[in-house]
Amino acid sequence: MFDLRDLALPIIGAPMAGGPTTPELAAAVSNAGGLGFLAAGYRAPEDLEEQLRSVSTLTGGPVGVNLFVPDSFQPDAALLDAYAQSLRAEAASLEVEVGEPRNDDDGWDAKLAIVLAAKPAAVSFTFGCPDAAVLGRMAGAGILPMVTVTTPAEAAFAVAAGARALAVQGPNAGGHRGNFDQREAPTGQLLEETLAGIRASTDVPLAAGGGVSGPGDVVRLRDSGAEAVQVGTALLLSDEAGTNALHRSALSEGRFPRTSLTRAYTGRYARGLTNRFILEHQDAPAGYPHLHYMTAPLRKAAVAQGNADVAHLWAGTGFASARQGPAAEIIESLL
Ligand SMILES: Cc1cc2nc3c(=O)[nH]c(=O)nc-3n(C[C@H](O)[C@H](O)[C@H](O)COP(=O)(O)O)c2cc1C
Repeated sequence: MFDLRDLALPIIGAPMAGGPTTPELAAAVSNAGGLGFLAAGYRAPEDLEEQLRSVSTLTGGPVGVNLFVPDSFQPDAALLDAYAQSLRAEAASLEVEVGEPRNDDDGWDAKLAIVLAAKPAAVSFTFGCPDAAVLGRMAGAGILPMVTVTTPAEAAFAVAAGARALAVQGPNAGGHRGNFDQREAPTGQLLEETLAGIRASTDVPLAAGGGVSGPGDVVRLRDSGAEAVQVGTALLLSDEAGTNALHRSALSEGRFPRTSLTRAYTGRYARGLTNRFILEHQDAPAGYPHLHYMTAPLRKAAVAQGNADVAHLWAGTGFASARQGPAAEIIESLL
């Protein structure tokens, strides 16, 4: 079974669902000596199969696949109605309707079957911990089962369920927080402290990420007990990333100088550039993926219309250091 400690470079290219992750980006990270990831979230199972085929033609190195763990949480209908009401004027100005809130499992069974057949080096899970049977099936197929955690308690739970490595996500990370319980506000505990808390009780390999923007961050996290460092935002402007043009320009233009954690787009906390939409919807309720479906038409129209005030612009706190160029050069600059 693949082991994070065997990587030539201690760098993991974070899975970034919604466009930024491409087979080309995952392969570039892997060819540079790190662990590239495909992001299966939001993607149809057939697309994941196609991406796995594609990446296997681009690299012979290790590649992981990231899956969203389904959640049966049912948000309060009155809160969803009130949130829909608060979105209507914005939707009208974008000439779309607010989407219908609903839950789904993101093709869970089909995607599990696909990864079990394709046998990537690793499968990481976020938004919760799968049950022991799922993690055991991965390990049984020779696939490294990884779980994203944000606290020592989540880490202990995941290791007890059979995780053989952890992606430890700190509060500065771009995109969604991977905390198990979406109703709880994510911890603001420093990543180094979380790593120390986890290291005190387990020796499974750790990949630490969140806000990594230069070599100093990599050294600091490795000194804090992480075998590898997971970077997302630093790769958003890379040549191989599928980051859309609006997101790219917002990251590099300096118009939005800060990031914030928000539930406004999807009902789960995520970190993005602080734009008008985030500021106007600070009261958004918990409810993933319900809010994701409600805001989908607005987000799609905003991206198409080049409207950075409304589009979701995921970014970690280190976004100002993100640079363009081949992913291999960006990785080299982190070491
Ligand atoms: C645009 C974007 C999309 C992301 N999508 C996913 C995802 O699909 N699955 C996942 O586990 N993490 C996702 N993340 C979080 C990353 O795995 C990682 O925790 C984060 O990028 C690390 O922080 P950094 O962005 O500051 O490097 C995403 C992050 C970004 C920026």
